[in-house]
Amino acid sequence: MAPSDRPLLAREDSRDSEREATEEDALLTGQAAPSSRKQQSKWQKYREAGLSVYAVLATITIISLAIVVNREARRADSRPSNPSQPDDGWDRDGKPTGKRNLIFMVSDGMGPTSLSMTRSFRQYIDVLPQDDILVLDEHLVGSSRTLSSNSLITDSAAGATAFSCGKKSYNGAISVLPDGSPCGTVLEAAKKAGYMTGLVVTTRITDATPACFAAHVDNRGYEDIIAEQLVGNYPLGQVVDVIIGGGRCHFLPNTTEGSCRADDKDIVKMASKDYGYNYIDNRRDFDSLRSEGGVQLPLLALLADFDIPYEIDRAHVNDIYPSESEMAKVALDALSVATQDSDKGFFLMIEGSRIDHAGHGNDPAAQVHEVLAHDKTFATVLEFLDNSDVPGVVVGTSDHETGGLAAGRQIGQAYPEYKWYPAILANATHSASYLSHKWVAYLLSTEGEKASRKQKAKFIRHEMFEKDFGLYDVTDEETDSIIDATIFWPPVWIIADIISQRAQIGWSTHGHTAVDVNIYASDPRHVKPLIGNHENTEIGRFLAEFLEVDVEAVTKELVKKGVRTHGVEGGSDYVLQRPQFLDDNVSKSKLWIDALRGHHDPYSSDLHSGAYLWRNE
Ligand SMILES: *[C@@H]1O[C@H](CO)[C@@H](O)[C@H](O)[C@H]1NC(C)=O
Ligand SMILES: *[C@@H]1O[C@H](CO)[C@@H](O)[C@H](O)[C@H]1NC(C)=O
Ligand SMILES: *[C@@H]1O[C@H](CO)[C@@H](O)[C@H](O)[C@H]1NC(C)=O
Ligand SMILES: [Zn+2]
Repeated sequence: MAPSDRPLLAREDSRDSEREATEEDALLTGQAAPSSRKQQSKWQKYREAGLSVYAVLATITIISLAIVVNREARRADSRPSNPSQPDDGWDRDGKPTGKRNLIFMVSDGMGPTSLSMTRSFRQYIDVLPQDDILVLDEHLVGSSRTLSSNSLITDSAAGATAFSCGKKSYNGAISVLPDGSPCGTVLEAAKKAGYMTGLVVTTRITDATPACFAAHVDNRGYEDIIAEQLVGNYPLGQVVDVIIGGGRCHFLPNTTEGSCRADDKDIVKMASKDYGYNYIDNRRDFDSLRSEGGVQLPLLALLADFDIPYEIDRAHVNDIYPSESEMAKVALDALSVATQDSDKGFFLMIEGSRIDHAGHGNDPAAQVHEVLAHDKTFATVLEFLDNSDVPGVVVGTSDHETGGLAAGRQIGQAYPEYKWYPAILANATHSASYLSHKWVAYLLSTEGEKASRKQKAKFIRHEMFEKDFGLYDVTDEETDSIIDATIFWPPVWIIADIISQRAQIGWSTHGHTAVDVNIYASDPRHVKPLIGNHENTEIGRFLAEFLEVDVEAVTKELVKKGVRTHGVEGGSDYVLQRPQFLDDNVSKSKLWIDALRGHHDPYSSDLHSGAYLWRNE
């Protein structure tokens, strides 16, 4: 049902100017049909071009419909015909009576506008009617207030602590309370109660959201310690049975290529020797996991040095990195098989991590593809639940909104148009971060080092904006702004702004905002306490209550046994933190170029995502 793995619509001739984009917009919004002959014939052409796509879509739609109908039928079956006679493992209040599974999905940084923007984008690229909405849209149950204990605007660490511990804490806290003491998490409590557990993310597994489920440090920057705790090197031992994501660099000793640890500890070795992990680090082994069926647990699958590439970029290197939904599917199947003969099910957290990064980068094209990938993953989870005999629920929400995204933007002094242009985003085949890498790599090349201003402008125009964004009208002023970029360097934000302006998509910040975020669930009858508007901590408490596990007991154990909650000051736990010279102007950009030597894999995110800057994603 969700479309994200399909290629973008072939770029038809009819999409070659903004005026035509406007016409298509009119078609899309069902406004007055084009009146002139010329417009008619263009519409005709557009329809013909779309026809073959339609055939494919129709097939997909029929298959999807079959799935939906089947799902609805199952749902109907599972509804108690007589409310006083619960069946199928659910009681009258919509709670499971016995064995159960819980999937918690975090859409990091996804606010309500991300949904509106992505919904319209999808309708545009797949030529769908207005009522063909996202899978998430169909499962909206409520909204969440997100403030943290020390700010009206939360970060992901405090946000995830609200989910994992059910408690408010300060920005930067990884499952510790404002007084610095550790708080037990739903995942840890679930493991103790006999559930199997898992974490699947598209960022570093040591990043704030996943860390909050099985680590306790007083600053999210201590990713080296988080890596150790995640595999079991802390008082509770091994608690996460399935770990899939990026962040390999924090698990390799500093003597190894690709390491970003401050010390020479080998966490991969620790994981396999001391805690029994089955370690894999590449797509080939990941795929063989799938074909083998039964996966040997615990599993530590670290599939990228740092973050998994943005979906819009990943699609080009699908042979190297799996998608969010593929990773989720492997985890669901592995946990399902592993709990087959148990009277307890599993708890799995899945994060669409990089919606947030696209928000920090103010990159609308990257973001719509991230949201589509997450929507598809939500559909994958629903399908799993529908096919499972074990009663289960998926709850999805965001920790906060990122970017102050607005689907509408005033360009210049004139009163704004009431339009934004999905066609612009549809033309992009890479992220602004990728273009930024390309620019830096060019400057570092022998060709780039010798290039005149004019040659640089030509490179920007053709090799970056035309090739990767499908934008053909970049102005001299804009190429100048990239060549002369000063304070923010590399100029990833300028690149993103050029596409945002044309799409008439607005952003109010490169950080987070305080707007309420949505709550989604497989079935409102199973998440009654989450219907309506809630504090984010209520979501955390719901998770523990659904599983009927004792988070407080874990807190007591952690406090009693003591857990090391901070790292080495000045250690390279902070190695990727904002370098001081970023505050300086262009005269220092040479320093940046040097810092970026060896950092220009266009699919790696680190220094180009816009999110790395302050390490407070
Ligand atoms: C999209 O790309 C095509 C070429 O692939 C180009 O002709 C068209 O003008 C672009 N559309 C927009 C809105 O820039
Ligand atoms: C690697 O880690 C060891 C301590 O574990 C430290 O003494 C050494 O300086 C580190 N090397 C580098 C290059 O960071
Ligand atoms: C940029 O740096 C130079 C020297 O480092 C300094 O003279 C100049 O005032 C700075 N410009 C701005 C706008 O900060
Ligand atoms: Zn963020």
